[in-house]
Amino acid sequence: MMRLAEKIKLVEEVVSVPHYNVAGYTHGKLVYTTTEEGVACLWSLDTSSGLKTRLADDVYMVGNIVPDSPLAVYTKDVSRGREQQRAYLVDVRNGKRREIGEVEPRRITEVCFDGKTVALSTASEEAVELWIAKPDGSAEKVYQTRDLLFASSIYHGRIAGVGVLRGDPRTYEIFIYDLSDGEFTVYTPKEGASNRSPKLFQEKMLFATTAFGGERLLIYDLKEKRLEEPEYAYKDYERFDFTEYVLFDWFEGGRIWFVGKREGRTRAFVDGMLIPLPEGFIHMLTVVGDKVYASHSSLTEPRKIYEVDLTTGKVETVLGVGLPSRVKTRLDRAYPAKYRSFDGVEITAYVVESADASKPGPCIVYVHGGPWAEVADRWNPFIASLAVCGYHVVAPNFRGSTGYGEEFRRMDIGDPGGGDLMDVVYAAEWARGKGLASKVAILGYSYGGFMTFLATVKRPDVWDAGVAGAGITDWEEMYELGDAFFRRFVEILFGERRELWKDRSAAYFAENLKVPLCIMHPQNDTRTPLKPVLRYAAKLLELGKTFELHVLPEVGHAMTRMDDVFKVLFPAVLFLEKYISK
Ligand code: 4NP
Repeated sequence: MMRLAEKIKLVEEVVSVPHYNVAGYTHGKLVYTTTEEGVACLWSLDTSSGLKTRLADDVYMVGNIVPDSPLAVYTKDVSRGREQQRAYLVDVRNGKRREIGEVEPRRITEVCFDGKTVALSTASEEAVELWIAKPDGSAEKVYQTRDLLFASSIYHGRIAGVGVLRGDPRTYEIFIYDLSDGEFTVYTPKEGASNRSPKLFQEKMLFATTAFGGERLLIYDLKEKRLEEPEYAYKDYERFDFTEYVLFDWFEGGRIWFVGKREGRTRAFVDGMLIPLPEGFIHMLTVVGDKVYASHSSLTEPRKIYEVDLTTGKVETVLGVGLPSRVKTRLDRAYPAKYRSFDGVEITAYVVESADASKPGPCIVYVHGGPWAEVADRWNPFIASLAVCGYHVVAPNFRGSTGYGEEFRRMDIGDPGGGDLMDVVYAAEWARGKGLASKVAILGYSYGGFMTFLATVKRPDVWDAGVAGAGITDWEEMYELGDAFFRRFVEILFGERRELWKDRSAAYFAENLKVPLCIMHPQNDTRTPLKPVLRYAAKLLELGKTFELHVLPEVGHAMTRMDDVFKVLFPAVLFLEKYISK
């Protein structure tokens, strides 16, 4: 049995392994973010001299980089985690920075750039908005709505993106905003389809759509008003059957690269040619002549940047470090497992077995956030930390998760905390039935924190303990405290069924809690506010329940500092040691 001090040290090592992520390439420089300094910073690497230059610190989001402009656009939180962000431009040749000062701090959901104009989708208290900005820092709000929307591309006078634009919470339509006449056009190849991430080039728009069955990449010609199949020089992709196209874009005047995903693992193709990267997940890539730079990770390997030579197929790590061996040896197998839920629906869970736990041994059911997200075969410091501490981790992709088709993703709409919660309960049963789990704790952050709160009061007999980070205990109160974006988000998630809010709020069932609960919450969280959770804790105190509460000062929902990740994990590890290790 490992000593507690040893576990804490291992978690610190896991959390401090730096991540590297490709942002793009321009003017001879690979632009990337890294957490080497304990917080995400923007850097450039001169690929001929090897010289590295720091461009910006504590960055939140980086926009796409275009080869004909030396500028990179990025955002920073200026509100100690309250997600009030500003946008900036930096010249990668000389590191000169400029603030886009005319956009007052607000939630920025996307940034994109065509070399001349920046497009931003944002949200304020009152509205969801589209802004444009120029490299001189001037900016203008061009559109506002109460619908959810996200810009994904700008090209010579047009902005494209997706949103819930026809009032159907299940579907995402495309919008095209024309800067010359201010016309906002909604497009979908078929009513009822979900469309993703349109990318503009000349008169063409490349996008993913479920209009014709499973997700496919298609091109819409904006001038001819016609759909086309993308064409590729190579046919390697034909051997694969992907459920989703997670990333795609144009390069070099009309060629296309894309990343397809199946079962939480991805493959990348450049003009149809398979890129020989290891098994796992490709987070981003950029094509530079006959080279590809890609950031990649797996559940047992942190994010690194690889260079792939397209002519020789040679793969090299350009940025990134491996895990310390004491960490690596404790991460045993990582694999997807399938089980049937209460109503026969097939659920996939990613399992990471701990080399330090017996079988059966203490087990964590890790519930991901989103809820329209997934646990894939990619680096996750929470999962890795728990596994190195001697817990088997079972991470179910419950109904509503991405990665298993659009019908599956939509299954939680109008029923959050219903069927998806049962899928999580069945993950615990599966782990016990397989002989993997002895004691089981449920642990999650954000939507996963919500599920933890609800699971421990609605299915109190399934768990031995619960750890809820940045969770939701009361939908009504959370809605009141949300901005325009999150109010709409909640309406969409519940499929407008407000009458369900109470039944899906742990606040109304607190007396059912039976197991010790560890609560962690960022003080400045503006997505899942602290206030309702404090009230919940007060209720638990009144009822004489066993719980602990940790408020993280000066931290927001999206933790950018590795220290803050550690601050969430540290109490969790102490708590789990006490309640499920023995
Ligand atoms: P996430 O955050 O799980 O980190 O993506 C969330 C914030 C709000 C809601 C869900 C998730 N919500 O349902 O309102």
